[in-house]
Amino acid sequence: MVTATGAFAAETPIKDVLAQIDPASGKAKDGATEFTVRGIVAAKLVLPDNKALAFVLEAGQPALPVFGDAKEAVNLIPRNEVTLSGKLGDGPFGGALQLKAGSVSVSATNKPFGISELRDAGFLKDASSLAGRWLQVTNVTFAPGKFGTDGIAKAKGADGAEMTVRVSQGAAGREVPSEPVNVFGVPVKVGSEWHLVAGRFLLGRAREIQNVATKRTCFTCHNPDTKLMGPPYREVAAKYRNDADAIAKLMSQMEKGGVGKWGPVPMPALGAVVPPDERKALAEWVMSYRWDAVLAE
Ligand code: HEC
Repeated sequence: MVTATGAFAAETPIKDVLAQIDPASGKAKDGATEFTVRGIVAAKLVLPDNKALAFVLEAGQPALPVFGDAKEAVNLIPRNEVTLSGKLGDGPFGGALQLKAGSVSVSATNKPFGISELRDAGFLKDASSLAGRWLQVTNVTFAPGKFGTDGIAKAKGADGAEMTVRVSQGAAGREVPSEPVNVFGVPVKVGSEWHLVAGRFLLGRAREIQNVATKRTCFTCHNPDTKLMGPPYREVAAKYRNDADAIAKLMSQMEKGGVGKWGPVPMPALGAVVPPDERKALAEWVMSYRWDAVLAE
């Protein structure tokens, strides 16, 4: 197949590259071959030293860790389908593909990467059966405060078990979610422990609020991840992620309608049909998608 640079490079299935990492030692068995892979980015961790570790997978399959300079990894954004090249070597948590400079090309955005495996926090005591898979731990509560610069956060699951969540540098200095969230991410082994590299936080009460959104016809014009007549909620939340008045602005849009912020198509005023408490819950739910952007920064 023809790559972006015009050179011929055969793609290797991700599972065949993963087979070249020894599961026991985490060391690469083959550090000489340059592999080209195609997959969807599930999560990314920008580390304090401006290095980035991304997890690239084929839907429903375990992810390949890809390690390189944060600048080279800038297009390794969750839900992007990418091709990239590199040789196997050491990553921060075991073997990883060493990202070759200039090798990333994006072939699609907004790709779904399959159903998340649903587990409770206690599962992370030994996540080896789902190593590298897209996982969801529901109703996780963080210890109050701000995310630190080390990217390591302690949290508790609904089952009372403690867990360690790894977050990207974009989260540093931000308040942790103030209510229980479902944490989506990729489990990785760090020394003798399992940590969850977070790619998405969604409100634990999202299902309940989605029922309101269905009832109030929001989904006829919006989808959280893709553009319909209205903008994807993920992009709305990313745009307002640093805006202290975001909730008020979104509530006002629902009440009074609006036009021109996302294009020439207007959103109708829905204040007469969506009461204030619902507008607030909907705005909080939409803004929870900001973590997609923050956790990739
Ligand atoms: C008839 C189609 C339609 C419906 C129904 C609709 N929207 Fe919208 N929505 C839009 C369009 C179009 C825009 C972009 C408007 C603009 O450019 O300012 C938008 C924009 C938004 C924004 C971004 C506002 C901003 O300040 O940037 C939010 C949030 C939003 N809608 C939430 C909702 C919610 C919640 C509901 C259900 C209660 C809903 N929308 C129902 C079409 C719709």
